[in-house]
Amino acid sequence: AAAEKGGFDSFMAKEIHDQPAAVADTLLGRADAEGRLTLDELRIDPEELKGISKIIVLACGTSAYAGSVAKYAIESWCRIPVEVELSHEFRYREPIVDEKTLIVSISQSGETMDTLMAVRYAKEQGAKTLSICNTNGSTIPRESDAVLYTHAGPEIAVASTKAFLAQITATYILGLYLAHLRGNLFTGQIKDILADLGKIPAKIQDILDRGDEIKDLAVSMAENQSVLFLGRHVGYPVAMEGALKLKEIAYIHAEGFAAGELKHGPIALIDDGQPVFVVVPSPRGRDSLHAKVVSNIQEVRARGAKTLVIAEEGDEAVKQYAEFVFYVPETPTLLMPLLATVPLQIFACELATAKGFDVDQPRNLAKSVTVE
Ligand code: G6P
Repeated sequence: AAAEKGGFDSFMAKEIHDQPAAVADTLLGRADAEGRLTLDELRIDPEELKGISKIIVLACGTSAYAGSVAKYAIESWCRIPVEVELSHEFRYREPIVDEKTLIVSISQSGETMDTLMAVRYAKEQGAKTLSICNTNGSTIPRESDAVLYTHAGPEIAVASTKAFLAQITATYILGLYLAHLRGNLFTGQIKDILADLGKIPAKIQDILDRGDEIKDLAVSMAENQSVLFLGRHVGYPVAMEGALKLKEIAYIHAEGFAAGELKHGPIALIDDGQPVFVVVPSPRGRDSLHAKVVSNIQEVRARGAKTLVIAEEGDEAVKQYAEFVFYVPETPTLLMPLLATVPLQIFACELATAKGFDVDQPRNLAKSVTVE
């Protein structure tokens, strides 16, 4: 078993370190220079894909957060409306689905019953179904019209890490493919985005090489009872995923919020010493989101919060308001989740390890939930 863990203490730690390869392998051979996608099993006519009027992403757990990240990129690149819905909510609300709807299910295992049932339901309504999946030949891809496999390799730890980054990568390939098909992006733009994606594995490696900074923080926080996570735009699902990891394996009350929602409720939770992770957008962004999130850091800090900041390299402005800053390498905003998630995974893994918990087999959870 020690050998299977590749010298790491847990499968989870190993899988966090597998992430440069998970992203690189998911990109590998997928797109030609024009961003044309190679689907493993395409049973949807490209002409039909061209004509879709909306996308609904169906997934549970971490996979649903990958869908939430994808929404920002696909809407921006393809100008197709994207809804993201938890599989178990979808089927029971008379969703509006027709032959112009593309269902994109995301499932690491391909066996999650709620997602399978939601896909079946959508198919009955005439929708096209595409599965993003990490497990060859599993049920959801078998029952879908098309599949785009993530090549993260087998994920053993119950809490998902490398599958998540591979899922985001796969949705981005899909987004670029659709943008190409529908003429929403120029060839040069697609090439540039693919080139930026190609640089992600080395940037993840850079983060992993500095993992001890996060470990020290995590060990020092082992006695905390509650941790909050704030993010905005693509940083919002990153915050949600950071909180989920901490709940799953460290059994700490953790909640993620949209930073803009702070003043509508969550700020009431802040009191002396409350740790708050803040995922800060790039200061190079065209809009004012950076300034808005920096002022959120100031707001919680003024109320006693311990501010733990994930920011982009070179963002000096956050330093003066943060107890702790972890810098991730520069990347275009839409790709930022592929980097900013990693320190939060390390944080949860190290904190749970410091508490002596079995991070691979957390209590009450299953890797694959095959009941409704
Ligand atoms: C379970 C696992 C989670 C996973 C979720 C969805 O709850 O513990 O880690 O994100 O199922 O699984 P799937 O295989 O459909 O991605």
